[in-house]
Amino acid sequence: MTIGTIRDDFPMLAHCTYFNCGGIAPLSKSVGAELLRIPTSIIEYGPARMLARDDSFIGIEAARARLAAFIGADPDEVAFTTQFSTAVNIVVEGLAWQEGDEVIVTDQEHPAMLIPLMNVVRRHGLKVSRLPVSNDADEMLTHFQALLTDRTRLVAVSHVTTDSGTRLPVAEMTRLAQARGSYVLFDGAHSVGQFPVDLHALGCDFYAMVGYKWVMGPYPSAALYIRRDRLDDIEVTWCGSNVTQTGSVTMGVEDLDWIPGARRFEYGGRTYAYDTAMGAGVAYVDQLGVEAIEARARRLTAYFHEGLKRVPGARVRSPLKLEESTGIATFSLENKDGVTVSTALRERWNMIQRAALWGSSVRISLAAFVEESDVDRLVENIAVLATES
Ligand SMILES: Cc1ncc(COP(=O)(O)O)c(C=O)c1O
Repeated sequence: MTIGTIRDDFPMLAHCTYFNCGGIAPLSKSVGAELLRIPTSIIEYGPARMLARDDSFIGIEAARARLAAFIGADPDEVAFTTQFSTAVNIVVEGLAWQEGDEVIVTDQEHPAMLIPLMNVVRRHGLKVSRLPVSNDADEMLTHFQALLTDRTRLVAVSHVTTDSGTRLPVAEMTRLAQARGSYVLFDGAHSVGQFPVDLHALGCDFYAMVGYKWVMGPYPSAALYIRRDRLDDIEVTWCGSNVTQTGSVTMGVEDLDWIPGARRFEYGGRTYAYDTAMGAGVAYVDQLGVEAIEARARRLTAYFHEGLKRVPGARVRSPLKLEESTGIATFSLENKDGVTVSTALRERWNMIQRAALWGSSVRISLAAFVEESDVDRLVENIAVLATES
């Protein structure tokens, strides 16, 4: 596919320069069509097939199988959760905590991970250790090893950090943590869809992800991977209809026989259209090829780094080494704070990006539909801001 064909799939790109795929991806025509498929049919023919849970109509299992294959998992290990935080809640509320247990996070976790986690920290009297994110993987691993203890029960960290786009050394972290008897939960919001992810090869226990960023699905959409042999370590804390094998009106405690696999966390009425549209996003990214997306992001990142060298007072905050970078690039200016730069880019030049959550910088996302000419104009505008008082 050429860049022109890709851009034609995203009508909104005609109206702005979009550097915020890491926030919310633009909606493609195919994902939008999938999002509307079920409601359109219901308007015309009514909800009978949905009420009958006719999956030849709904398509949830096809979406699950597609996502599972994309992340190197089995369909039984994947639950659609709509919100990222719900995925985190399922894990952290379901673990059997004891007072004094320890959790490790980084100093750059997103609130969607931290808030559910701090809620169990508060209620169960857990201890939190914070690992500083660094662009030096060896330094991070040394630090990480020093934080691990025999009381560490959960390591809950980003695969790729939201602001600096730093790739954590996830394979080594998984191995070290599990060797000390800890579970590992990764935040995959910025990894799935950016580069190949193989969860069976990685071996982590849990992996939460969103559909609405690099997977190019709709907002909101999210999913949780639970390693097959960890399923029974997660107590079901919230539940409802359709998740037990027995389902009678005289239901008793003895009938709480959960359906197999991670589907047990999908209870009650579901956001099917969003889940299947997340599957359509996966299909789209798969069609582009995730390796090709990764390679393109590297080329654009190198191009952006080169451009920024010409801007006085500009500094790249994301990893400089291309093999450590992702499509997330963060920069700062000496003479202006991140919010001022971000606001000016949006209001003066209609360039959509966001100020970073940590540090005074700006985050841009170099997704597959971004063109070199977009980067040229971005650098020009940054240069204007760098010289204005
Ligand atoms: C690192 C990271 N994790 C998780 C999320 C998901 O957040 P939310 O639950 O608000 O959709 C985001 C969204 O920006 C993110 O950047």
